Amino acid sequence: MKGVILAGGLGTRLHPLTGVTNKHLLPIYDRPMIYYPIQCLINAGLREIIIVTGGEHAGDFLKLLGNGKKLGIRELHYTYQEGEGGIADALGLAEDFAEGDKICVVLGDNIIEKNIRQPVGEFFTQPSGARILLKEVSDPQRFGVPRIEDGRIVEVLEKPADPPSRYAVTGIYMYDNDVFDITRTLKPSNRGELEITDVNNEYIRRGDLTYSILNGWWTDAGTFESLYRANCLVAEGGANHVDDDAKTNAPLLSN
Ligand code: G1P
Repeated sequence: MKGVILAGGLGTRLHPLTGVTNKHLLPIYDRPMIYYPIQCLINAGLREIIIVTGGEHAGDFLKLLGNGKKLGIRELHYTYQEGEGGIADALGLAEDFAEGDKICVVLGDNIIEKNIRQPVGEFFTQPSGARILLKEVSDPQRFGVPRIEDGRIVEVLEKPADPPSRYAVTGIYMYDNDVFDITRTLKPSNRGELEITDVNNEYIRRGDLTYSILNGWWTDAGTFESLYRANCLVAEGGANHVDDDAKTNAPLLSN
């Protein structure tokens, strides 16, 4: 299994902070935001990672991360998203990198307290399909929200005014290689983007979407409020970067 970090976008919700740098390079307490999704994948046992970025400041990722060896990445790849096509469009750029393997996708502004080793291990043995991670939140209308019936997700709604559950679909997704065929069939949403929620709904239609509930806290960091919260959570409680145990004990899920 390989890791994909989506770190494009213009970060317009964080202007003027994003006027001179990419959102994912802004600080979260003592390190740049992009370190957290990287560590999330490393802690899960993945060592081959691609960063999909875009915009004017894409070159700064290379300056910061280089070939990724310092962070424990065995192979770090980069690719560049032209324009603002959305999360699912960015994901499509990782197809050649995936080389037919399953992938674990993390949105570059998602930060978690613990690790995702268990759900990633479960997906590793899942014969096909997708697995998403849910977290109960107080403001589900800000996120993708699942409708759950008899323990199965029957639909995901993107930012619903009237959420059908208290769960957010977090920005951590696991897919088999069919995901690239699916992204090719998507049509832009009302906000003019290819939506990851439409990818997940296609897996539901195929009867092949499973889920886990994420352990520990989770936050995004794409608005001033959530960026501030992310800083406080990391400063007060640490985050997955302290998971030193994983460096030695995480099973390697790539060759
Ligand atoms: C995106 C997804 C949404 C998901 C969220 C998690 O929202 O579209 O379904 O719940 O990430 O961070 P966005 O940040 O693009 O508004």
